[in-house]
Amino acid sequence: MAAITVDNLFKIFGKNPEKAFPLIENGKSKDQILEETGNTIGINDASFKVKEKEMFVIMGLSGSGKSTVLRCLNRLIEPTKGTIKIGDEDITKVSKERLLELRRDRMSMVFQNFGLFPHRTVANNVEYGLEIGGMPKEERRKKAYEALDKVGLKGYEEQKPSELSGGMQQRVGLARALANDPEILLMDEAFSALDPLIRADMQDELLELQAEVHKTVVFITHDLDEALKIGDRIAIMKDGYVVQVGTPEEILTNPADDYVKAFVQNVDRTRIITAQAVMRKAPTIQLPKDGPSVAIRKMEKVGVSTTYVVDKNRKLKGIVTIDDAVHLKEKEEKNIEEILISDIKTAHPETPINQLLPMAIEASYPIAIIDDERNLKGIVDRATILAELNENGNIEASTKQETKTKTKQQ
Ligand SMILES: Nc1ncnc2c1ncn2[C@@H]1O[C@H](COP(=O)(O)OP(=O)(O)O)[C@@H](O)[C@H]1O
Ligand SMILES: [Mg+2]
Repeated sequence: MAAITVDNLFKIFGKNPEKAFPLIENGKSKDQILEETGNTIGINDASFKVKEKEMFVIMGLSGSGKSTVLRCLNRLIEPTKGTIKIGDEDITKVSKERLLELRRDRMSMVFQNFGLFPHRTVANNVEYGLEIGGMPKEERRKKAYEALDKVGLKGYEEQKPSELSGGMQQRVGLARALANDPEILLMDEAFSALDPLIRADMQDELLELQAEVHKTVVFITHDLDEALKIGDRIAIMKDGYVVQVGTPEEILTNPADDYVKAFVQNVDRTRIITAQAVMRKAPTIQLPKDGPSVAIRKMEKVGVSTTYVVDKNRKLKGIVTIDDAVHLKEKEEKNIEEILISDIKTAHPETPINQLLPMAIEASYPIAIIDDERNLKGIVDRATILAELNENGNIEASTKQETKTKTKQQ
């Protein structure tokens, strides 16, 4: 079951929301509807599912409806129409009491401007929700300390928020959200107020934390790079619509329309496209059965000077070069292990190709792509990586620069 299911959700802000619907049906724009009815479209027929334990990012320009969607998920904003299920419970229909229960036990929110009480200590801020929920003092204190430890703030428990940097204050916000051990974390531009470097750190830390706590996270950002880094899947919003939902790779390689394309154009694809998307089949020989003759034949057949050596379970042992194989054969020896080069460059299938480039420059043979069990999945050669970089414009830009300088010198 999906953690969150949103179906045909609308939010119309204004005095007479029902007046907007006929115009929406006639395909009128958000601006036209505002002009004609005085109502603002917050969300226009949004449908999407968030899977359990996934990092689901909602991305879009300012005013596109992201915060409105997020606030409908815990009904801080009342939807005008549509359904929202948390698990199998339709929260648009639940009572006030049940709603409070859900907010207290199952979801938490992290805000852009931290939302900390300045007069309370860090630990007191973190235990606030538990206190409201009526948890005894000792117990909630213990939970607050644990949550602070999780976000790397051990030792800061008794300080005041004002004594902490922005990044640390947001970690307090995160600890507070984690303190009741919710299933769902709602994060609204949680890192947008932070300096770029601190922001990048916080993104990394959130990913590390997620690997430990496995929450269902709905994360809002207007920054595509942040969305691509954090999201397992991304929903892109425009004028209240959800224009596309997909994995980072799907969004980059297959943008749904010009709006998404415009976002995607300036992104460094090489940070997203992974080794497995560009790798090709490796020429291989198998130990112990294959000897130098098979190796030579194989390399001659495909016109390469190295072949990859695997055992009978396809686990990578190393490579052999054609020169070594010929030499071994001349000596009338059969044991490939003698010429096996086992210290070779390898990478995981999910390594982004920009990380492969430095490796490829050092190595004189393609990089072996192996999974966690060392099974050989394929190889990526330097030319492939350079071609991808080129497509991205990186190389083009730098060579253009070079040509320019050269022309100047002449
Ligand atoms: N309380 C409100 N009253 C009237 N209009 C609102 C209200 N909240 C949001 N809006 C409008 O709804 C649209 C979506 O806003 P919002 O969800 O805050 O966008 P985002 O979070 O993507 O920047 C915007 O046009 C905004 O002006
Ligand atoms: Mg917002």
